Amino acid sequence: MELALITGVSRQQGLGLETAKQLKNKGFEVIITARDLETARQLAAPHDLKALAIDVRNEQSIAVAARQVELDFGRLDVLVNNAGGYYDQGGTVLGTDMEYVANALDTNLMGAWRMIKAFKPLLIKSPNPRIVNVSSGAGSFSDEVFGMAVNPGGVPAYGISKLALNGLTIKCAREFTADSIKINSVCPGFVATYPGTENWGARPVSEGAAGIVWAASLQADGPTGQFFRDGKVIPW
Ligand SMILES: NC(=O)c1ccc[n+]([C@@H]2O[C@H](COP(=O)([O-])OP(=O)(O)OC[C@H]3O[C@@H](n4cnc5c(N)ncnc54)[C@H](OP(=O)(O)O)[C@@H]3O)[C@@H](O)[C@H]2O)c1
Repeated sequence: MELALITGVSRQQGLGLETAKQLKNKGFEVIITARDLETARQLAAPHDLKALAIDVRNEQSIAVAARQVELDFGRLDVLVNNAGGYYDQGGTVLGTDMEYVANALDTNLMGAWRMIKAFKPLLIKSPNPRIVNVSSGAGSFSDEVFGMAVNPGGVPAYGISKLALNGLTIKCAREFTADSIKINSVCPGFVATYPGTENWGARPVSEGAAGIVWAASLQADGPTGQFFRDGKVIPW
């Protein structure tokens, strides 16, 4: 049975839990992680998922979790970097507080970076290791709906942090070819993970998660170093 680990699973309506449930249905063993262990445990129990604590901004918490996965499983097949935040909707470059920018980068970029560093030794023990960075069209230059060269709307801190996350995807893909690790960015689309957003056009969480699950389930000869939505390449 393949093993997947997902970060940032603290909410019933979040993409993380839905991704975990879909992977479980496909036959994966799934570890969900959240900053608060009890929260992760409560979400995990009804779906027969495992739970661990991880704060992606805290290297020590990541190291403890990686050690536990090593002891319990000895390898990891799929890492889903889903933890994220700092949605500065309506924000502007000049109006954004620099501490907020630092927090966005520390979570959305460096959180995934720390996870990849800590879990790579376990990933290379898998016959088909995959990493999925949950990104956003807001981090694309030219995505026709959300891209920053197209959409005049806000989210400067969030968008630039996801742009940087996409850069991490590209750099890792180049570095990891010898290890056969596939790493891709996935935009789930605008998804109704918060109440009321469906009224603004957000789509069901299950549809957004399906694109993450698709990238998590790639075969050994699948693509790497690309940006996808719903299994289709979208522009950086
Ligand atoms: N919903 C959308 O339309 C959409 C569109 C594009 C991309 N995305 C991306 O999809 C991912 C999931 O988002 P979501 O919509 O499901 O919303 P969400 O509930 O806000 O998901 C983010 C999760 O990350 C966790 N998190 C934040 N900081 C963390 C940290 N330092 N360590 C560990 N976990 C942390 C949050 O947990 P806490 O409770 O601990 O804060 C939360 O569970 C995010 O990366 C988001 O940027 C979402």
